[in-house]
Amino acid sequence: MKQTILITGGAGYIGSHTCLEFLAAGHDIVVFDNLCNSSLESLRRVKELSGREFPFVAADIRDRAALDALFKTYAIDAVIHFAGLKAVGESVEKPLLYYDNNIAGSITLFEAMQAAGVKTVVFSSSATVYGDPASVPIREDFPVGATTNPYGRGKLIVEQILGDLAISDPEWRIALLRYFNPVGAHKSGRIGEDPRGIPNNLMPYIAQVAVGRREYLNVWGNDYPTPDGTGVRDYIHVVDLAQGHVKAVEKLAAGPGVRIWNLGTGCGYSVVEMAQAFEKASGHPVPYQFAPRRAGDIAQCWADPALAERELGWKARRGLDEMCEDTWRWQSLNPQGFEE
Ligand code: NAD
Ligand code: UD1
Repeated sequence: MKQTILITGGAGYIGSHTCLEFLAAGHDIVVFDNLCNSSLESLRRVKELSGREFPFVAADIRDRAALDALFKTYAIDAVIHFAGLKAVGESVEKPLLYYDNNIAGSITLFEAMQAAGVKTVVFSSSATVYGDPASVPIREDFPVGATTNPYGRGKLIVEQILGDLAISDPEWRIALLRYFNPVGAHKSGRIGEDPRGIPNNLMPYIAQVAVGRREYLNVWGNDYPTPDGTGVRDYIHVVDLAQGHVKAVEKLAAGPGVRIWNLGTGCGYSVVEMAQAFEKASGHPVPYQFAPRRAGDIAQCWADPALAERELGWKARRGLDEMCEDTWRWQSLNPQGFEE
């Protein structure tokens, strides 16, 4: 059934790819974003790639009046809520900004939804809510809570707020999607991750080394209890991740309640394996040197994605080579990101 989906944060990295997948699945979308970490150019390219037009509202999720006006103008069936700040280090320096933007902003959004009678939401959560897991792979019923920074605590608190909302009003249909490590880009090389300043995350950093913008990769720690001593993560292609959102919205149509799904591949790769895979995919060297561990990092983290496969009929299909090739295509065609 065709639905009209509000996508907050739709101009961002995961949001822009998700816009494309909803359009490809035949749904209508409305994008809401204050562009604090993205550009209009990404949406222009989503329109170019999809051949479809859609409304864009440039506003902040903390702006209740803007949200109310949107819900009056468009008959929204479901909301995908990506809008938020995501830099872990910055969240430690500016906790109030993060709590205001990510928690107060989410509350304002949910209030506006409730007032408009729109009670279906998919929330972008993160594997960070599991903290340092006692074992891997991580299942959805593992304990949550040992978060180490305001960014991660914000994700957990919004999950809990949504849980309480569902208890207060059983009509809510809520999906908490816990992403592992999103990487890669759309096949076209027209949209991708465009971090501002020096990237914190591994894949964009490696891509900037390969393209010659940075000299070498610092590998944060080679004394972890992992096969090669470097950190192991579950990297998932952003297009697989985006498709998981379409499946989640379609599944929520089946009935109310709160559902939690891990979106990961179930495979873990080390930092050194990632650098080597990227060299192979790009044909460019990725020199690296070992450096001390980064505060707050864990040794290893990967998903048990079986629940999403069973309940959503969704499975990540794109492997590591494709993740690296697609990141490289985006990076080499757009060495300065969307700035051109
Ligand atoms: P992104 O920064 O590219 O996208 C977020 C978008 O939200 C941006 O376009 C930004 O301009 C917008 N935004 C931020 N605050 C806003 C506000 N107050 N009002 C309106 N718009 C606002 O980040 P992303 O990587 O696409 O992440 C999307 C979501 O997924 C975030 O909630 C993030 O925390 C979550 N997530 C990301 C990762 C990851 O590794 N990228 C992992 C787990 C969870
Ligand atoms: C980080 C965040 C997490 C967030 C996720 C997505 C921390 C502690 N965790 O996860 O909360 O949900 O990003 O935004 O910041 N690495 C290097 N050199 C680099 C960069 C990374 O060796 O220059 C290593 C890290 O130590 C880690 C792996 O690469 O072992 C992946 O790092 P990263 O991409 O930052 O993701 P996470 O730390 O898993």
